[in-house]
Amino acid sequence: MSKKAVVLVTRKLPDAVEARLERDYDARFNSADRVYTSDELVEFSAGADAIIPCHTEKLTAAVIERLPDSVRAICSFSVGFDHIDLDAAKARGIIVTNTPDVLSDATAEIAMLLILGAARRAHEGEQQIRTATWSDWSAIGGLGIQVTGKRLGILGMGRVGQILAKRARGFDMQIHYHNRSRLSPDIEAGAIYHGSVEQLLPQCDFLSLHCPATPETERLMNAERLGLLPDGAILVNTARGTIVDDDALIEALRSGKLFAAGLDVFNNEPDIDPRYKALDNTFLLPHIGSATRETRDAMGFRALDNLDAITAGREPPDRLA
Ligand code: 8YV
Repeated sequence: MSKKAVVLVTRKLPDAVEARLERDYDARFNSADRVYTSDELVEFSAGADAIIPCHTEKLTAAVIERLPDSVRAICSFSVGFDHIDLDAAKARGIIVTNTPDVLSDATAEIAMLLILGAARRAHEGEQQIRTATWSDWSAIGGLGIQVTGKRLGILGMGRVGQILAKRARGFDMQIHYHNRSRLSPDIEAGAIYHGSVEQLLPQCDFLSLHCPATPETERLMNAERLGLLPDGAILVNTARGTIVDDDALIEALRSGKLFAAGLDVFNNEPDIDPRYKALDNTFLLPHIGSATRETRDAMGFRALDNLDAITAGREPPDRLA
């Protein structure tokens, strides 16, 4: 009987995923679900054939260079791969995979929730109930911005952006987008393409970020670009915190340039900029874009499909490096 491949699983994963890991691999689990330090990642990888990390593990060039030679694959439990230095992995002959597609619906749901929550001041309303400060109904109280019929700008029209566009059409929203390349008319389905971010922004009553976190998109939403949005616009982010310049966004929220922001991702999670919490016009969630039972199972199975292929000497379906 051939020996099972050894897999370091850096975080606690759903039961069904861990059961499959246990059945097919010699898995090293993290039952305490603690985020490992870089030193621990290297140490716990000793003798492992593969690592299944989440976005919480920063597999920088420095960490990848220190990984033991036994590690042949990094199968991330995430679609985003900004936490993995692909060049460093390539240089060491380590295969890297991610989990696209399976979390697009769940993430688009959270983008829609952020749009609605930010526009309709859900956080303030909920706060009133929970703190028993809801004194009376008022015809002029709690007024938000109507979502129906407004213009939604989608920056990065990939899998999640396209599903959000579909959902938003249910609210009669007019879709505008910018993407590296224009989509075919059947996928566009009437969405209006803009050739640059700067052309898109003035058309957005709502702007939803869906571009990958790369050096090019770091702090893309800076003071200058936020200034191109119409006054009273709403920004939502389910992609990565690094795409936003926190100082600029907080200033735009304080000054009233933006009506509100809905954020599921932040710079420096979970130690986010405390100023966001002090603002009433923010609707904040703790990076739960993909957090449904169905999706987290599917992400785990997708990571394992990749790992199965690699250990069987086949090409993995979601190879990044
Ligand atoms: C995941 C995400 O929950 O997949 C991604 O890129 O941002 C999230 O939806 C997380 O990354 C899991 O590692």
